[in-house]
Amino acid sequence: MNSNSDLDFLHFGIKSIDAQHQKFLLLLNELRMYNRNGEDNETVGAVIDELKAYTQYHFEIEKRIMTRSGFYELEEHLKQHDLFIQKIDEFKLAYKYQSAALSEQMLTFLQKWFLVHIPEWDQRYVDFIKNKKKNPI
Ligand SMILES: [Fe+2]
Ligand SMILES: [Fe+2]
Repeated sequence: MNSNSDLDFLHFGIKSIDAQHQKFLLLLNELRMYNRNGEDNETVGAVIDELKAYTQYHFEIEKRIMTRSGFYELEEHLKQHDLFIQKIDEFKLAYKYQSAALSEQMLTFLQKWFLVHIPEWDQRYVDFIKNKKKNPI
């Protein structure tokens, strides 16, 4: 795999999870582009909905993986996920009622949150399951 990318820290070597993280960032970039291009509310609203649905799908898969492996930090991790979904809802509401250009600041917040969550939080369950595979009890 290419190891020169600045985004290497986003790759765990677990195909499905890596692909989902990439897809999330693509959706976020799409949103940013639409916002900057002044796309209409309906178009932007649809991408926000897609982003939320995709995030929920990804979080469900992570929950399943963590539950199955008996990950020690499951509850705290799920709380982080819930907070993020709330942020997307706040974002959608703010967009709807401002009915103006999406706040660049909010998009940056969502992106930063995700880029911190992956190496800090997701990394721990990935290490846990990799370690469990290596040292089965
Ligand atoms: Fe994740
Ligand atoms: Fe996560």
